[in-house]
Amino acid sequence: MKQNLPLSAVVLLGICIGSQLFPPSQALSCLPCQESPCETPACCESGSYIPGVCGCCQICAKAESSVCGGPWRTSGVCNEGLFCHRECDCKTVEDQHCVFPFKFKGQVFDACTDFESTNDKLWCATEVNDLDEVIEGQWADCKEGCPGMPFECDDTQLFNMEGICVNQTERARLEAGTNVRAPKTPQQFDDGAQNATVAPYCSPPKPGTTLPVEETCQCAKGEECRPSNSNGDDSVNFELKTWCFLSYVADPSNPTQDCFPEVQWSKSAGRFWSNKACETEAEESILFIPSL
Ligand SMILES: *[C@@H]1O[C@H](CO)[C@@H](O)[C@H](O)[C@H]1NC(C)=O
Ligand SMILES: *[C@@H]1O[C@H](CO)[C@@H](O)[C@H](O)[C@H]1NC(C)=O
Repeated sequence: MKQNLPLSAVVLLGICIGSQLFPPSQALSCLPCQESPCETPACCESGSYIPGVCGCCQICAKAESSVCGGPWRTSGVCNEGLFCHRECDCKTVEDQHCVFPFKFKGQVFDACTDFESTNDKLWCATEVNDLDEVIEGQWADCKEGCPGMPFECDDTQLFNMEGICVNQTERARLEAGTNVRAPKTPQQFDDGAQNATVAPYCSPPKPGTTLPVEETCQCAKGEECRPSNSNGDDSVNFELKTWCFLSYVADPSNPTQDCFPEVQWSKSAGRFWSNKACETEAEESILFIPSL
């Protein structure tokens, strides 16, 4: 009998990490809007802003071919006119796509099989010839989620999965089942954004871009330290934290190197930011704290 994937149900406040699985019945908890600063992106690859998942801040709608979906669409919503295509993916333990159907020794397989398996594990073809026969050696053990495995991916798991933004033409092609790799995989198309507003266009940030190393890590020029508002608890308000976007992050792949120890990357703004950068400035300017 088939069972559903075991759900490792870890619910984080606000942001969900893409690869974790969430049962659809649990609600996404959002912090009150004033608790986190909005970092409205300066520009979007899609050219559109939409309200973020918690409704507090503007974020970018996702451009064609970008990652989207995830639980509660935390990995993004596609731009107007696009669709977020999620599908059950069947891969091998070596992370290659399984190819179905495949033929082996005269038999046709639509699912992973233990036929002549040398390790008793279920396997699939990763490459076939023109006659759909598996090419010698082009096979590997299947991962969970594949057809034939104890836990098969089905419609109920699509909710948790990330997808790719596709256009109407591509959607029609996928729905017609002409993708040879997996003709019968469960799939889903989420409508793109509605009521998107115009954002300036920009290209995605280039990973690995390096800045002049002779400069030291600091708040970017023209950037002020902005408060990240607290939840109204006075004891917290007393130490209102501020943050700024940074410049001169020497090594973007290792941003804390020669920089503040808690440097973080803002996905929405495509920039590094830090609280500590502002604390340093504050220490210099606060000379006297009145005793109560
Ligand atoms: C739709 O998507 C397909 C596949 O990504 C692409 O080849 C095609 O050019 C797109 N069509 C339009 C009208 O953008
Ligand atoms: C889009 O805007 C219209 C009118 O402003 C509103 O009635 C509708 O609910 C909005 N749709 C979404 C999905 O926000």
